[in-house]
Amino acid sequence: MEILAQFNIILVLFFTVFLLSACNQAENVTYCNDSRHYIVNVLSFEVSPDPMLVGRPATIIISASTSQPISDGKAVIDVSFLGLHVHTETRDLCEEVSCPVAAGNFVLSHSQTLPVFRKQGSYTLQMTLHDENNLELTCIRIKFIIGNASFASNS
Ligand SMILES: *[C@@H]1O[C@H](CO)[C@@H](O)[C@H](O)[C@H]1NC(C)=O
Ligand SMILES: *[C@@H]1O[C@H](CO)[C@@H](O)[C@H](O)[C@H]1NC(C)=O
Ligand SMILES: *[C@@H]1O[C@H](CO)[C@@H](O)[C@H](O)[C@H]1NC(C)=O
Repeated sequence: MEILAQFNIILVLFFTVFLLSACNQAENVTYCNDSRHYIVNVLSFEVSPDPMLVGRPATIIISASTSQPISDGKAVIDVSFLGLHVHTETRDLCEEVSCPVAAGNFVLSHSQTLPVFRKQGSYTLQMTLHDENNLELTCIRIKFIIGNASFASNS
């Protein structure tokens, strides 16, 4: 019985790794400081719609893991367009994740509405998460390209 249970765990792990690598865009996510040990680590992310289109609301869905439970906090968002800083905002972390978050894996969903993605081109979104004591949980930078909506709908 014990062997069977272990086999099941290995199978689950195998499929988790398989799924993560199948829909991984990890090359477009970097930590703000690579040498830091963050409490929250990013496993993968996806964007919706994919590709994101200019003039349309967009959602960035991040799968992450936390080594500590999170009950409250904030998310600071900084957006750059072609290397120029264009937008900053602070959100309640519990708007982006369903609080409280237990230690382990969780999903963060960030919806960005207009007029932030006003132009076509390459963007960087930096997201810093803080807990209720303002401790930095993580800081990531996500790179993505916003395409031309009228071109996409005409084709
Ligand atoms: C990055 O993190 C390391 C380890 O915590 C720290 O020593 C270093 O000063 C940090 N670098 C920057 C630019 O903040
Ligand atoms: C990830 O980065 C590559 C290279 O910059 C880019 O072609 C691709 O569109 C990016 N992925 C997303 C989802 O934007
Ligand atoms: C988007 O595509 C449309 C149709 O192809 C084109 O007329 C328009 O100039 C494009 N917009 C940009 C910003 O490239």
